[in-house]
Amino acid sequence: QDGDAAAGEQVFNRCQQCHVVTDDEGNTLAGRSGRVGPNLYGIVDRVAGTVDDFRYSSSMTDAGEAGLAWNEADFVAYVQDPSGFLSEYLDSRERGKMSFQLRDEQEAHDVWAYLAQLSEE
Ligand code: HEM
Repeated sequence: QDGDAAAGEQVFNRCQQCHVVTDDEGNTLAGRSGRVGPNLYGIVDRVAGTVDDFRYSSSMTDAGEAGLAWNEADFVAYVQDPSGFLSEYLDSRERGKMSFQLRDEQEAHDVWAYLAQLSEE
């Protein structure tokens, strides 16, 4: 189903404790203080685990090296259950570092739409 970017802006309130969206010129488009997680600018088609200077779990960098690049379906599955998604993707018991889960599938589509829109501006 399609996401609603305006609704996704509200959902992002729950992400910004850990994530910012900062463009290539250094302008912060969303979020304030969050630095626990990687910058989510340009997440569409971005290879997983590739923000410079962010210390990812080995499962996230392994997934990127195995070919994971963020599309809507994988993003929605990941944010609903990050460690479950990564262990299934890698067929291993490794866990990721994102402890938060966004269980509502529609909200996951909405926040994807919001992040995609921010990266187009
Ligand atoms: C990683 C999305 C909430 C901490 C990621 C990634 C995405 C994402 C797409 C992978 C990025 C990449 O490959 O560069 C979201 C969304 C959230 C959310 C949409 C809200 C709905 C949070 C929260 C925290 C958090 C609240 C902290 C409590 C992290 C961390 C990673 C991460 C630590 C790196 C994971 C690893 O290395 O295994 N997040 N996140 N996230 N996020 Fe979140």
